[in-house]
Amino acid sequence: MGVETAAPVRLLTVSGSLQERSTNRAALEAAATFARPLAVTVEDFGRLAELPAFDPDRSDEAIEVVEDWRRQVASADVILVAAPEYAGALAGAVKNAFDWLVGSGELYRKAVAVISAGTSGGVHARRMLAQTLTWQGAYVVAELGIAAARTKFDPDGRLTDDATAAEIAAVTHMLVAAATSPSRDVVARATQVVGELGIDAGHVAPAA
Ligand SMILES: Cc1cc2nc3c(=O)[nH]c(=O)nc-3n(C[C@H](O)[C@H](O)[C@H](O)COP(=O)(O)O)c2cc1C
Repeated sequence: MGVETAAPVRLLTVSGSLQERSTNRAALEAAATFARPLAVTVEDFGRLAELPAFDPDRSDEAIEVVEDWRRQVASADVILVAAPEYAGALAGAVKNAFDWLVGSGELYRKAVAVISAGTSGGVHARRMLAQTLTWQGAYVVAELGIAAARTKFDPDGRLTDDATAAEIAAVTHMLVAAATSPSRDVVARATQVVGELGIDAGHVAPAA
């Protein structure tokens, strides 16, 4: 009699910061270290800067990096996005990347978690990101702001703050659990998370 083993959960990480020394990137790397012991395979989409500015006229064009982005999102079970806030709004590179998915629909019913690391913890960036993800049908099941982020990672990007480590671990566990949770539980969780961010929960996609 064969022993059935569950397929590993596929986690895609996306950093919205393009600068080399990035606290958002560091937060994703910390999350990946928490995820791997949970039988999770971690892939990173590191090509945000290569994506052209979104143009609906080019939506059906065979643009290699756009196809790669859509393929990686489609094949992920869950997605973790960490993005900075710039001038009180979501970093534009991230919004641009997700605009490429509006017509093709890879985010529909996909569980996503949102982090913003930076000076303030980026509540505006988190709210905007959660809103656009929700409007595309994704389930935002966890979100986290990391304020004064440069004090919480060392210059090599290693997490040095225990409370932040616990918070990133909790977000990671919640996201990974969503991959195998009943759809109605994921919807209930997303409804709670986006409601707390002041987003109309009427936009949360119905359970499968
Ligand atoms: C152009 C610019 C605008 C910024 N605006 C904000 C802001 O509105 N709110 C905030 O909390 N931090 C703001 N910051 C600081 C970022 O939070 C900080 O640079 C953060 O570390 C960026 O993320 P990263 O470390 O992943 O690159 C801004 C930084 C830049 C460069």
